[in-house]
Amino acid sequence: MFNVISKASKCPMFPMYCVSVFQKGHWKSVCVTGAGGYLGSWVVKHLLSNNYTVHGTVRQPGDAKYAHLNQLERAPHNLQLFKANVLDYGSLCSAIAGCTGVFHVASPVPSTIEEVIEPAVKGTLNVLKACVESNVKRVVVVSSGSAVSLNPRWPVEGYDTLENKLRKIVDVRDVAQALLLVYEKPAAEGRYICTAHTIKARDLVDKLRSMFPQYNYPKSFTEVGEEDMISSEKLQRLGWSYRPLEETLVDSIESYKKAGILD
Ligand SMILES: NC(=O)c1ccc[n+]([C@@H]2O[C@H](COP(=O)([O-])OP(=O)(O)OC[C@H]3O[C@@H](n4cnc5c(N)ncnc54)[C@H](OP(=O)(O)O)[C@@H]3O)[C@@H](O)[C@H]2O)c1
Repeated sequence: MFNVISKASKCPMFPMYCVSVFQKGHWKSVCVTGAGGYLGSWVVKHLLSNNYTVHGTVRQPGDAKYAHLNQLERAPHNLQLFKANVLDYGSLCSAIAGCTGVFHVASPVPSTIEEVIEPAVKGTLNVLKACVESNVKRVVVVSSGSAVSLNPRWPVEGYDTLENKLRKIVDVRDVAQALLLVYEKPAAEGRYICTAHTIKARDLVDKLRSMFPQYNYPKSFTEVGEEDMISSEKLQRLGWSYRPLEETLVDSIESYKKAGILD
């Protein structure tokens, strides 16, 4: 049973697909594709801290943008980086060989929908084929909210005026935890939506303004029509929980300050 997903944009809602070939024993040796990316790095960190041995794929080994991976706890012994492109089947086979599980997280951040289709479709098929070749027992594939959204248009908004749309927010640390949960739970199967808080843009801005009054915020909002609601009920039934929105907002602002994005 394989699921192939097309994705069109980034939004903080993560559908994930769990493809279980069969389950047996301890699956402590896993591969993470796109290990140097935003979510991939958190997944690697979470796996290492749970005593997994990780094969991480990157496209440019040696590049300074992956330096943070080698600084993770247990990385010196338990993390090995492999050069791999999802469009290059052979490179994936080398990275996945010897692993009992795969977290397929790699995906380009596109400027057009065309840029994402080939890596999403052909890349995912290559990953799944390499998993069969290496007798991998379980595969967790991360996708984008656009894969389940009825209208995956790029958001076109300015800074002064914002559409008062529903924003779906989930903390990346909770996503990493969700991925490990669906990997480890034998009962996990099929597709999971991973989103935590659903809040109107205006309410989110009001909340942020009350917590961080020193920053600039949109001045007006335009109303939109009815929107689709989605939920992570299935994931929660599996045992997933998430942190409060306020904690995510405070930690996000802190990390933006640390990175020099905010004063
Ligand atoms: N961030 C979000 O808010 C968000 C929300 C919903 C869903 N998601 C989903 O989460 C996944 C990861 O997103 P992200 O935010 O972590 O993105 P990211 O930080 O841009 O990381 C993407 C990773 O994919 C790798 N990659 C891109 N094209 C590749 C290719 N052809 N072959 C191999 N690796 C390739 C990149 O590798 P290199 O390091 O080699 O460049 C990079 O490490 C995506 O499926 C995305 O749709 C993210």
